[in-house]
Parts: sequence; structure tokens; C-alpha cells
Amino acid sequence: MTRRHLSAIAPSCSIAHRSSPKLIAQARVQHAKTLYVVGGMYGNPQALDAIEDMLQEERGDVDVLFNGDFNFFNANLEDLDLINRRIMRFYSATAGNIEISISSEERGSEGCGCDYPSYVSRDVVARSDLIVKKLGEVAGNLDADVLSWLRALSPFANYCIGGARVAILHGDPHSLSGWSLAVENLETSSEAFRRRHGCESHPTTTLRGSNQHCDAHDWMQAADADMFACTHTCLPFAQRVYEGPESFKAIFNNGSAGMANFSGQPYGLLTRISESLDIPKGSIYGCKQGEARVDCLPVQFHHKEFVEWFLKTWPSGSPAHTSYFTRELRFPHLLMT
Ligand SMILES: [Fe+2]
Repeated sequence: MTRRHLSAIAPSCSIAHRSSPKLIAQARVQHAKTLYVVGGMYGNPQALDAIEDMLQEERGDVDVLFNGDFNFFNANLEDLDLINRRIMRFYSATAGNIEISISSEERGSEGCGCDYPSYVSRDVVARSDLIVKKLGEVAGNLDADVLSWLRALSPFANYCIGGARVAILHGDPHSLSGWSLAVENLETSSEAFRRRHGCESHPTTTLRGSNQHCDAHDWMQAADADMFACTHTCLPFAQRVYEGPESFKAIFNNGSAGMANFSGQPYGLLTRISESLDIPKGSIYGCKQGEARVDCLPVQFHHKEFVEWFLKTWPSGSPAHTSYFTRELRFPHLLMT
């Protein structure tokens, strides 16, 4: 999500958001030949169309898992109903904080549930709460079957793909809305990058061995995972966690499937994991992980149509316009290198 260098009070993590690597390890393991992990579509219907076009281009069977926050900007009943029904009917899903917030009894009135860290501006947090409040009011008019489906979504999922065990999360392994796997919080982030986010004094997540509270390798071992596929923090990255010269685990955060991610690049991103070791068309970056291949793929949604659609619900002066319209027109500062 959009961030500024101001202090804020981060809301506490609610019980509905809590998880643990042990719980993840105990969850049922599903099998797939190829899996699209679609995090943070944010209610963008053009992104859903683009993902369905991508499926047509694939040769073998592809499963699709929306790992949360597939709602956000779709704060009108027609789009809210349509997107959730399409996902409910044709694909798999796990919960993001948005789905939990809008399907609860309070329906968004308790905030967006993003659990923003302290370096995110109060203004950004307040606007996010207003967006989810409006979305929650609309969600109150959804049919009972859609609301029940949203409420029943699991916070995580396990897959086995080409022999690799993949834990699909929304935030981090301890909280659906956790920020430990945000690019700016990984120990390999540059100091300049962290300064830009105003989080240079925020604790980092170490990759291996030096911090028992924030150690990605330990979490992956406890979760019995070769890989974490996550989202929530809205900036993409991929990171190897080395176990030895030839052996590593991997973290892939897809940023957002429904918003721009890189400076000057008007597309969303998803994580593709496959038992086929061929590099897929369009791969932006990727690696072999055990006997599977994992890649970041662009979601080339129709940007002009998306902007027109966005403005119908979120005109100038609205909270979503103030927080996100600049991102859609000028794109985030994250550079592709
Ligand atoms: Fe989220």
C-alpha cells in the first residue's frame, strides 16, 4: 500500500488474523501441476479478465488461488458481487484482511485490518479504513452464500508442486496482516531503500539464524515449506534463503495483481509455480525451487479501462483517489533493475 514517512499508531493484530508456522505445517496439502498465486487484485475487474486471458495461453492445467485482498476498490454492489462470484465459482481463494473485514459482523466499521506498521502515515491508514468501511457497507447487501463463502476462507493454504512444498500466505506466517515479509523489512533491503520508507529503525526480518523472533528460515522449517508465496504489503520481491551452497528456500511476494508495482510499468503481478521447469513467457524474474519453477508474471490488464472504472466509484477527493490514483497514473517508485 502507499506509504509516507510519517509516524502512525499501528492497530493491534486481531485474533482472526493470527496464524503460526506450526498451524501452516498441519494444513492439508493440495497438489497442482501449475499454480497461479494471485495476491492483492484489489477488486480490479480488468485484472481478473487479464488473468483469464493468461490461462488461455497456458498449455497444461493451471489452478488459480487468490490469496487475499481480491476486494478493495470494487465498492459497488454489481462489481463486488461479480468478482466474488467469479472467484467462488471457478477458482480457489484464501482470505486477506479485506475479506475478513467486510464479511465480519462489523463489516468494515473496525477498520481495514491492514495492521500497517508504524512508519505508514496516519492519513494513509485513515483513508484505507474509509475505503473498507464503504466496501463493508456495500458487502452488507451481498447474498448470504457469498458472505458465508468469504467468512469461511482459510488464512493460508499448502500446495505440493513438482515435489516442492509451497505455503501460501497473505501477510506473514504469524499473521494474515503481518509485514515481516515486506521487501523493506527483509535484511537484504538497502539502507537507502529503508530510509525512503521511513523504516530504517524498524526491526528487520533476518533470512537465516541471527534473530529468533524474525527468522525466515526457521519459519519455513517450522511450516514444513520450501517456499512462501505471500502478498499484502503491495511491493513485490523474490528472495532466496540459503541453506547451503546448492540448497535454498525461497520467498515470493507478488506485490499487487491489480495495481502497478514498478516505476513506469502499468501492470499487476502474480506468482506462477509449476512442475514444468521451462521459463514461462513473460517471466520478469524467477528461479528453480527444488523440482519446481517459480516466476513473477505480469498481469497486463487494460489500464485505460481500469482508470475509467476506478473513477466511477472513486472520483477526485475520495479516499481511494487520494491514496492510489497517483500510483495508477505515475506508478510506484520501485525500479526494475
Ligand atoms: Fe492485505
